[in-house]
Amino acid sequence: MNAPLPLILDCDPGVDDFVAILMILAASERFNLLGITVSGGNVALRYTAENTLKACELAGRRDVKVYAGCPGPLLRTLAIEDGVHGETGLKGITLPPSTLKLQPEHAVDFLIETLMTFPQKVTLATTAPLTNVALAIVREPRILDNIEEIVTMGGSMHLGNITPAAEYNFYADPEAAHILYTCGKKITTIGIDVTHQAVVSLEWLEQLKHLKNPVAKTIFPMLHAFREYDMKYFEVGGGVLHDPCVIGYLLNRSLFKGKDVHVEVDTSFSLTRGRTVVDWWHKRGLPINAHVFNEVNAEEFFDLLLGLLARYGGEAP
Ligand code: RIB
Ligand code: CA
Repeated sequence: MNAPLPLILDCDPGVDDFVAILMILAASERFNLLGITVSGGNVALRYTAENTLKACELAGRRDVKVYAGCPGPLLRTLAIEDGVHGETGLKGITLPPSTLKLQPEHAVDFLIETLMTFPQKVTLATTAPLTNVALAIVREPRILDNIEEIVTMGGSMHLGNITPAAEYNFYADPEAAHILYTCGKKITTIGIDVTHQAVVSLEWLEQLKHLKNPVAKTIFPMLHAFREYDMKYFEVGGGVLHDPCVIGYLLNRSLFKGKDVHVEVDTSFSLTRGRTVVDWWHKRGLPINAHVFNEVNAEEFFDLLLGLLARYGGEAP
């Protein structure tokens, strides 16, 4: 077994971020989770930070360090997605206020301090608008030397989800996404071309319903309520588990297929704000700056997810 992967997650819970956190904490032998940074995004920072603490508490992990970061984008006004995730970000459930506390440091300070001092290269998983990460890169570019891989949920080669042209995370902060794709690293990119293949079916929800542990029982109504928006707009058969795909990739890279390409983010203030122009056929002849996925083995992904959730009760899925 390889040594646990040094990992930082940057997120904006949000239903799917919440599940991604539970996946990381269930696979504790695979990850050395150095901390979770949070930004405003799906809902306001006061909710995304609280929801992050709630996920850690639900998972029984009072040890996890959570850092609040930027409440909104670098330049733009925060566009929340409460229609998708509910007013407080956890559609369909109400959890008691968390008894955990945020760390005092700002998320950007934590990112810089950790990435400048940790003795091994760190993997950065992002499932939110990229404001925290972009600011850390701008303030201290040397952190890039100690990053093993940046795996980001964001972008789209085809249709958008918050606009016809753009995926939410990159639409919310296009400048931050631009900083990521021009920082010199090859960004592992899981866009909605892939995540829309990871749809929560009623059949899978029935399997989840058979798990008796408190984590599975807590998220069941949330994942059921999460179906509503995506089924209404995107011609899919359930809720789309965008962010869990990032953790699924880190746990089993063979589930995902894609290729090295050049990606450019539209930072205009036009209808195509936040669009990712993915040069899949290398027509522009520009240097590779991303590995973009276009396929996931959804059946194995959901088997993996169910197995992780079953771990919270020592159950066999
Ligand atoms: O477009 C999907 C992404 O935007 C996901 O990360 C979801 O949580 C929202 O943040
Ligand atoms: Ca998210």
